[in-house]
Amino acid sequence: MSQSSSLLQARYGVHANDLPPLLDHPVIEQILSHRTVRQFRSDPLPSNTLETLIAAAQSAPSSSNLQLWSVVAVQSQDKRDQLATLAGNQAHIRQAPLLLAFLADVSRAQRIARHQQRRVEALSYLDSFLTATVDAALAAQNVVTAAEALGLGTVYIGALRNRPAEVAELLETPEGVFTVFGLVIGHPDPAQPAAVKPRLPQASVLHHERYQAPVDLPSELGQYDAVLGAFQASQGQAVLGWTEAVLDRLRDAGSLNGRDRLSEAVQAAGFELR
Ligand SMILES: Cc1cc2nc3c(=O)[nH]c(=O)nc-3n(C[C@H](O)[C@H](O)[C@H](O)COP(=O)(O)O)c2cc1C
Repeated sequence: MSQSSSLLQARYGVHANDLPPLLDHPVIEQILSHRTVRQFRSDPLPSNTLETLIAAAQSAPSSSNLQLWSVVAVQSQDKRDQLATLAGNQAHIRQAPLLLAFLADVSRAQRIARHQQRRVEALSYLDSFLTATVDAALAAQNVVTAAEALGLGTVYIGALRNRPAEVAELLETPEGVFTVFGLVIGHPDPAQPAAVKPRLPQASVLHHERYQAPVDLPSELGQYDAVLGAFQASQGQAVLGWTEAVLDRLRDAGSLNGRDRLSEAVQAAGFELR
């Protein structure tokens, strides 16, 4: 089996057979090889890694080049320990040497406006928060791609939104700044390698010319529950399949681990969301 067809098998399980051969390129292969890493060695990153990753982040597109994002690099063990506690005790935050906190940041634009005595009323609207959040996410994903190219592993930490007020206090973020998520970066522990997690069949997410809701659920999901179940079993995880995992994660406000109060937290950070 060629490298790209084994990657397709890993990404789609039996549904790899529904696809034509993909175009061959080392960057495509690297992107298809993505897996979240949660077991790290604790040794430091090579020098200049942080600056390299941030240059990759800043190379992402940015809506109107407004660059409504910033990042806090957290390397101190003490702060990573505190963030781990705030994020539901995720051990990888303590283990890996670097956590990047990605921020939706309109405070820079506000400072510019104050300095130039100009108005920035557009920042009061929901779209500005969305713009800043999208900018932060695109920057972060460039870091993931760059880190993986360097042989490093990453895990996003959405759980930094569980207790936003405490995270804001710890990172000393001013008004107009909200921590969207963290990204842990380190050397993957070779003794506990991560695996590629299969995704939905392409037919579930790809629509041609117009959105076409599938006629029935089995045709939408195909064998995906079984494919993901086999992955879960291979990783020693509880075999839920995908349907059950989705329903469990989205059951009620309680499954949001505090994020059900996010709109208040975002407004408290100075975003009006009009
Ligand atoms: C915005 C975002 C937040 C996430 N938050 C967490 C998190 O707090 N803890 C964690 O272990 N994984 C987190 N993840 C990782 C996802 O669980 C992971 O990407 C998903 O299960 C798919 O697995 P894969 O990345 O290995 O393909 C997050 C991913 C994203 C995109």
